[in-house]
Amino acid sequence: MRKMEKPHCQTDEFTIFIDGCDFGDTQSHKFVFLQNIFLTMDHTRTSWNSKLGFILAASGSAIGLGNIVFFSSNAYQHGGGAFYLPYFLALFVLGIPIMMLEFGLGATTRKSFPLALRQVAGRRAEFVGWWAIGCAAFITMYYLAILGWAFGMMLGAFGSLFESGQTAPFTPFSEPSPEPSAMVFFFRQLATWNPLIFTLIIWGLNLLILKNGTSSIEKAVKIFVPLMWLCMIGLIVRGLSLEGGFQGALYLFTPDVRGITDPGVWRGAFSQMFFSLSLGLGALTTYASYLPKKSDLVNNAMLVSFLNCSFEYLAGLAVFSLLFVFALNPAGSTLSLSFFVIPQGINGLSELPWIVRLTGFGFFALLVMAGLTSSLSLIENPASALIDKLGISRNKALTLIAIPGIPGSILFVLPFIIDPDLNGNGTLGLTLLDITDHWVFSYSLLTIGLITALIIGWWTGAEQMRQALNQYASIKLGRWFNPFIKFVIPAILISVILSSLAGELHYENGAWTYYGSTYKLGSYWWLLAAVPTIWIGSTLTFAWVLTYKSGRV
Ligand code: PHE
Repeated sequence: MRKMEKPHCQTDEFTIFIDGCDFGDTQSHKFVFLQNIFLTMDHTRTSWNSKLGFILAASGSAIGLGNIVFFSSNAYQHGGGAFYLPYFLALFVLGIPIMMLEFGLGATTRKSFPLALRQVAGRRAEFVGWWAIGCAAFITMYYLAILGWAFGMMLGAFGSLFESGQTAPFTPFSEPSPEPSAMVFFFRQLATWNPLIFTLIIWGLNLLILKNGTSSIEKAVKIFVPLMWLCMIGLIVRGLSLEGGFQGALYLFTPDVRGITDPGVWRGAFSQMFFSLSLGLGALTTYASYLPKKSDLVNNAMLVSFLNCSFEYLAGLAVFSLLFVFALNPAGSTLSLSFFVIPQGINGLSELPWIVRLTGFGFFALLVMAGLTSSLSLIENPASALIDKLGISRNKALTLIAIPGIPGSILFVLPFIIDPDLNGNGTLGLTLLDITDHWVFSYSLLTIGLITALIIGWWTGAEQMRQALNQYASIKLGRWFNPFIKFVIPAILISVILSSLAGELHYENGAWTYYGSTYKLGSYWWLLAAVPTIWIGSTLTFAWVLTYKSGRV
């Protein structure tokens, strides 16, 4: 009888190479997991030069469009102070603990997300990691497209953004605007090739900064992160010093207990917290994998979360003070608040055009810088995973990402597909962005966060993770951490996901209503089905191919 050949498992001091070798039982996972806490596995991996470098990079990843664009519009939609309480709670019950898990995974395994998961929980967990990378790819594509538009608005501040007499190409705006109108400027811009060029510039900047890994990321964040704080502080001082600005601050900061009973507010707060802290896609696991061995992960997670949320509240202050001063009413899509309403407020700030232009430029420069430092982590995440798995060079990994990534982003900014059925919503790309965001943003981050908590809580063991996190921590995590990871976090996430799913199809005024019925898509109705199908189909196939591809483990 022919003897079955054993899989080839080779272990050396630095790396374990496994080819077709599966860790079948939980004990082995625990062994490998613990072993990595004490051994530095891969000596070739670069690391951050300083703790400051890591904190700037991780907080740069967290602070992004989510903090300015999405937070303000979410808070506004959910009634300001009503959003504040659930959001504050979400920081402590979800945000900080899940960030600790992501940091713990990266720092103990010194691997990017998919291989870190494989190292602690086997091949099926690696599949989840690659699925996260696939979902992140969708977010990266439209995130960079929004950054392209923001870049255009930034240049427009010294161009025609604050000038009157413009016309936009879509029906509702065919008359020249009597006053400067940011909305008209934005739609005019949508109908040109400029956003495509700007999106390419943003992609180029990202690839350039990521070319040398941690050392070049560190250099970039040391410039952009402090500058971004400076712009923000300037905007707040300006906003609050206006008569009536303080009312806006009160609106945001006065807790409203009525929000507690509305499940929609909780859903909004929890999803927003995930996105804002860059959780659920593995980006922070990748950044933490470059940390030196003796890092205080508990302290780092708290610091990054607090920096992120402070920035977010400051952004809320700036935005809400402007809203109140100029009695503006942000209707419509998520982007409208930052892209139409805020510039409209800035336009009314002063009689002096240079003050208006400079403030407008400052606001959009802030968006671009904050978004850029986040997009760095969005692209570094798959780059690092491909390098780890396939053993390829950084340049090759970045090229493999740019090949589908750039055309993907371009889809959202193509100017020529304009459908009158879109009811003045402009290009198809804008609607495509809304639908993609609806599915990927609402479901993938929370689902991946849920699976990560379940894997660590039930498979590798919450206690092991607690010990790993406590190893170099000045403030130690107590035993409460274990039931928290095993029961509390999964229970919250499962209920949020289920309630979001239930909201897709709900019974209203005697009829079943589908979420998509709010879009006036006309002949593009099929997008509503195509986007979720393409998202699920392509990300699962991608995850399957990469998981079962043999490589370095
Ligand atoms: N946190 C970023 C923001 O607020 C977005 C992001 C999500 C970045 C996930 C990386 C990973 O804009």
